[in-house]
Amino acid sequence: MAQHNANYDESKVPDITLPDIFVSLRGKLISTQQDWEEIRRLEILDLFREHVYGNIPSDFDHILYSEVQESQNPYPEKAILKEVNITVSRNGKSHTMRLNVFLPKSGKGPFPIFLLINYQPKYADGKLVEEGYWPVSELIDRGYATASFHGETVAPDDAERFSEGILNTLYPEELDKADGMRTFGAWAWAAMRAMDYFQQDPIFDTRKSALAGHSRAGKTTLWAAANDTRWSVAFPNESGCGGAAISRRKYGETVAVINTSFPHWFTDNFTAYNGQEEDLPVDQHMLAALIAPRALYFASARGDQWSDPKGEYISMQLGSRIYSEIYNQEVNFPLAFEEIGSPIIQPFAGYHIREGKHNLTWEDWEHFIDFAEIQWKQIR
Ligand code: GCU
Repeated sequence: MAQHNANYDESKVPDITLPDIFVSLRGKLISTQQDWEEIRRLEILDLFREHVYGNIPSDFDHILYSEVQESQNPYPEKAILKEVNITVSRNGKSHTMRLNVFLPKSGKGPFPIFLLINYQPKYADGKLVEEGYWPVSELIDRGYATASFHGETVAPDDAERFSEGILNTLYPEELDKADGMRTFGAWAWAAMRAMDYFQQDPIFDTRKSALAGHSRAGKTTLWAAANDTRWSVAFPNESGCGGAAISRRKYGETVAVINTSFPHWFTDNFTAYNGQEEDLPVDQHMLAALIAPRALYFASARGDQWSDPKGEYISMQLGSRIYSEIYNQEVNFPLAFEEIGSPIIQPFAGYHIREGKHNLTWEDWEHFIDFAEIQWKQIR
C-alpha cells in the first residue's frame, strides 16, 4: 500500500469546491422537506450508487431464520446467545449468513438493538466477542440487545474471492455491471437482512436501532444506513476515505490508493475518479446528509491520520446542515476542527476525536451509547 505517498501536510490540501447538497441536478434550490425527500435525497443516493458503492439488489424469493448452537455463550449469567443462520434464496440458489445475537436475561424487552458489522479476521473463526471492540457485556448491562455478523459470511474481503458469497450465489448478474454490487454493497445488504430478522421478532425495539462499524465496516455502515431508513442511528467509526472523510481533500488515503489496494470494495465506476476526486458528482458530506432525519455520529482518532480526521469532521459540519436547514433542528458544529476538545454530543448529530490509534474501543462506544440514548429518549 502506498501509504508513504500520502499527504499529511494541511497546507498541501487543495482548494476545493464541494457539490452543493441543497441544489438539485436541474439547478433547483432545495429548501423544503418535500423537495429534499422527493428530489434531492433520491438524486444523491443514486449518484453514490452509480459512481461509488454500486447496487444493493433488494429482491429475493425466500428468507429463513434458523437457530444453531455452535459457540459457547461467554456471558451465560446475564445474556442469552442466539446464533441465527439467515438463509436467503433467489432463482433456485441460496446463501446462508450468520448473525450472532445477545439479549439481556433480565427484563422482558422489547430491547433496543446495536448491530456491529464486523470484518476483522481474528474474530472470524468462532470468536464471538472482544472487549472494547464489541462490548457485549457493557451493552447487556445497560439493557440493550446487541448483534454482529462477519462480512466474510456474505462476501469475502479479498480481491480474488469477494464474489464467493452472495454475488456468485444470489446476484451473479451484478458481477458484469460497471455499477454492480461489490463487497461493501454485499455487507450493506447483510445489515438489511439482519434488520429483517430484528423486525420479525417483537423482542427487538427496532425503532431504537443503531448500526455501527469500524473503518472498512464504518464505510459500509454509512452506505447501509443511507439506504435502509429502518436504522435510527448510525456510527461509522474512523471510516476515512470512502466513508466519512471528504475525498477532495486528498489527505491521508486517496481514492486512487483505496481503489488500487482494495479493488473489490467499491463499484468499478469509482476507479474513474482515481486522482480525479474533483470530478466526483458527490462528496462524502452528502452521504452524511442522507441519514437525516435519523441520527448520525462520526468518530475519529488523532493517531489515525490515514483516515483524515479533519476531513471526517468537515463532512459532519457540512452534512449535518440538513438537520437545521431542512428539518428545523438546532444542530450545529461551530468549532473549527483544531478547537475540538470534548465529544460534541447533541440531538441528531455528534462527533468525537480521541487520542490514540486506529481502532474501535470502549471509549468510542461510551460516547456512541450516550448519543443513542439522547436520540431514543424522544421515542416512547
Ligand atoms: C486500510 C484501508 C482503509 C480501511 C482500513 C481498515 O487501512 O486503507 O481504507 O479503513 O484498512 O478497514 O482498517
